[in-house]
Amino acid sequence: MAPLFEKLLLVLSVGTTLRVSAQNISANSTFDAFVPTTVAQILASSIFQPTYVPFATIHNTYLELQSSFNSTFVFSQNITLPETFKHSERMVHYGLALLHSTGFPKNTPGVAQISFAELSKRFFLSAIMHDVGVTNNTEALTHPAHAMSFELWGAFMAYDHLHETLPELNAVQVGDITESIALHTTQYLQGNSSATGWLLQNTAIFDIWGYDVYGPGSFAPFWNTQTIAEIEQAFPRDTFIAEFEADLTEQEVLKPNCIFTHSFWDFNDAKISTIVPSY
Ligand SMILES: *[C@@H]1O[C@H](CO)[C@@H](O)[C@H](O)[C@H]1NC(C)=O
Ligand SMILES: *[C@@H]1O[C@H](CO)[C@@H](O)[C@H](O)[C@H]1NC(C)=O
Ligand SMILES: *[C@@H]1O[C@H](CO)[C@@H](O)[C@H](O)[C@H]1NC(C)=O
Ligand SMILES: *[C@@H]1O[C@H](CO)[C@@H](O)[C@H](O)[C@H]1NC(C)=O
Ligand SMILES: *[C@@H]1O[C@H](CO)[C@@H](O)[C@H](O)[C@H]1NC(C)=O
Ligand SMILES: *[C@@H]1O[C@H](CO)[C@@H](O)[C@H](O)[C@H]1NC(C)=O
Repeated sequence: MAPLFEKLLLVLSVGTTLRVSAQNISANSTFDAFVPTTVAQILASSIFQPTYVPFATIHNTYLELQSSFNSTFVFSQNITLPETFKHSERMVHYGLALLHSTGFPKNTPGVAQISFAELSKRFFLSAIMHDVGVTNNTEALTHPAHAMSFELWGAFMAYDHLHETLPELNAVQVGDITESIALHTTQYLQGNSSATGWLLQNTAIFDIWGYDVYGPGSFAPFWNTQTIAEIEQAFPRDTFIAEFEADLTEQEVLKPNCIFTHSFWDFNDAKISTIVPSY
């Protein structure tokens, strides 16, 4: 890790959380629509503080999104394996917590802005559908894209679903949601991600590997441990890792070239019980 990154971690890990309150976000609050892809680069470009955000604050927004996009919620819940679907639900909460916390880039000169209403909608739709390729649903298994890696298969199913169910979304919106799903396990070492894509990939790996993904405490600047503990209590991990790993192992046998086999993340390092040891 770069020295700057280590210094930032050192500074930020020293109890800043109690002094800062969560930011109040209106639907019109904006964030950068594109952000540096790597964790080291986003930390170098913005000062993050892992602000405590009460579960109720983010869960209310989650419930509003769920009811606004209930057909997508029901569609994905019917397809995704049950423990993996709960992983998607936790991810929505982590993403909302990060936006209410301190540091997600905003108002950077020259960078297009996206409103909280638009970003939370795109992020909800992508997160809730991102693992529809982790499935034993018969309709999914016979979808024309089923022979592809689960990320691409899932992206094609999501693309079809969005066109059928939410025809009011334009090509930019559908493209951002679908591309974020397709690329959520692909690691890039440079360049920018959409805010949606960044949130999707990093909340996904955080829910599997916890705080130490890119070295000890590498995700500590993003997420307050009390907030995460509250999310985990509401949406327990149960047998998520076992279910997910078994499905992916099966897919790797069927599709030896699948995207996930190129990944540097290792299931041996996954958090089996909780991300935050219960207090
Ligand atoms: C957010 O709003 C609450 C109540 O409306 C207020 O108590 C709090 O100080 C506000 N926080 C910030 C960071 O503005
Ligand atoms: C948010 O933006 C919309 C459209 O730009 C506007 O009509 C509305 O009044 C704004 N709301 C607030 C709270 O600023
Ligand atoms: C979502 O849709 C399902 C199935 O149509 C229905 O049973 C449920 O009540 C709906 N929930 C909400 C919050 O609208
Ligand atoms: C799909 O998998 C889940 C969890 O592993 C299991 O409970 C369910 O019975 C399976 N359904 C089918 C149709 O195989
Ligand atoms: C769930 O999936 C099955 C199998 O594809 C399908 O027959 C059923 O209609 C789906 N139910 C809902 C509520 O989408
Ligand atoms: C990524 O975005 C930043 C602005 O935030 C810009 O300066 C940089 O050139 C972009 N990087 C690439 C590879 O496009």
